[in-house]
Amino acid sequence: MQEIEKATLHICGKKIELPVRTGTEGETAVDISRLRERAGVITLDNGYGNTGSCESTITYIDGDRSILRYRGYPIEQIAAHSDFVETAYLVIYGELPNAAQRVTFSNLLTENSAIHERMVYLFESYPRDAHPMALLSAMVNALACYYPHLATNNHARDIVNFDEAAASLISKVRTITAMAYRMSRGLPIIYPRRKLRYCENFLHMMFSEPYDPYECEPVVGRALNLILLLHADHEQNCSTSTVRMVASSGANLFASAAAGVCALWGPYHGGANQAVIEMLQEIHAEGDDGSRFIAAAKAGKRRLMGFGHRIYKNYDPRAKIIGKSCGELLDHLGVNDPLLDIARKLEATALNDGYFIERKLYPNVDFYSGIMMRAIGIPLNMFTVMFAIGRMPGWVANWREVASNKSRIYRPRQIYTGHAIRDFIPEENRG
Ligand code: ACO
Repeated sequence: MQEIEKATLHICGKKIELPVRTGTEGETAVDISRLRERAGVITLDNGYGNTGSCESTITYIDGDRSILRYRGYPIEQIAAHSDFVETAYLVIYGELPNAAQRVTFSNLLTENSAIHERMVYLFESYPRDAHPMALLSAMVNALACYYPHLATNNHARDIVNFDEAAASLISKVRTITAMAYRMSRGLPIIYPRRKLRYCENFLHMMFSEPYDPYECEPVVGRALNLILLLHADHEQNCSTSTVRMVASSGANLFASAAAGVCALWGPYHGGANQAVIEMLQEIHAEGDDGSRFIAAAKAGKRRLMGFGHRIYKNYDPRAKIIGKSCGELLDHLGVNDPLLDIARKLEATALNDGYFIERKLYPNVDFYSGIMMRAIGIPLNMFTVMFAIGRMPGWVANWREVASNKSRIYRPRQIYTGHAIRDFIPEENRG
């Protein structure tokens, strides 16, 4: 980060000069890291909309100009030319892999795809209808117990084993997810096959039967690769900041990623992809063409799920890519999903409506991803888990930045608005 000038703050009778810094793309920040020490005040930024919590070299977003780049590469080019494994390598290691690096990384994923056999007992102890996100966070955290050499909670040591830990996490979440699905349905567990590629292997573990292997159509494999790579990173969102926050305490990769899964679960974040389909199903069941729902959203009674974004005040570039691919996938598979028609109608209406235009609300990545996942056969309650699988490379890369940069522990402050000091009241005198 370059220091370009100073900002002057007049406060409490003092004049404080604050460094102004710029990033690669000219984004500007007033550095307040020594403000409290020098002026005795802090900044207040509810929801962190104006707070840069770190410097990072992974992902660049310009929400006003619909720009998303991983390590400098535009998402449109990555979506057109790459696949999930290559994108994961790029996000984690900073460069596109050459042929030898790609083979080494793929082999590492393959070697680490199975989970410890005793983890099966963990699945068995959960209720059959447990939400897959609860299971995923628990199982990812449990990896620290089964692979303790990768999770010492000593960053210097954990970084030495980083390649194995990263590949284990990215590979095993796929196995954990498929296993959770099979066990929730009382189906036999299907183990990963060495010869299959990442997405094909996942679909094999989900949908093969011991007597009937799942044949993955290339178009389905490509669609899943696209969904996952579009989710691979998105700078300091709620879950990634959570991963960095946990990592900053010195915690291992598995613990930090498990916390990321929990943060992702909520409907305002990763849970939105499930909420979009539930909304579209509700609209369909009520025979609404979407107009009544839009009216309720404008009246503040409902939220148009899959619309709006803290950063994008223009079209989410991922939504543009996925919206196009969604139609192509359904056409190719011959699927006629009425929810796609409703989604298209909602989008067209909202994009021409003053309420959404004034507030700069556009479709986000979750608006069409669920319709694609439905067509692939992934059940609704697993949609957010698919987001988590896709986001793993981003969490891994962010954990690595924290672990290798000797970052300070994250510790925001607050403005206390509770009672002023008062005397303790004995129980017999309490009202
Ligand atoms: N439908 C209707 N109105 C909306 C929506 C929406 N989806 N999103 C925002 N608004 C309105 C708000 O009511 C508010 O209106 P007001 O100014 O009249 O009070 C205004 O737009 C600003 O909204 P905020 O909530 O302040 O925006 P914020 O940046 O805090 O929230 C968020 C962003 C959470 C994504 C929000 O747009 C939302 O809830 N969207 C639906 C859920 C969703 O799709 N989440 C996925 C995000 S992408 C991701 O995490 C991968």
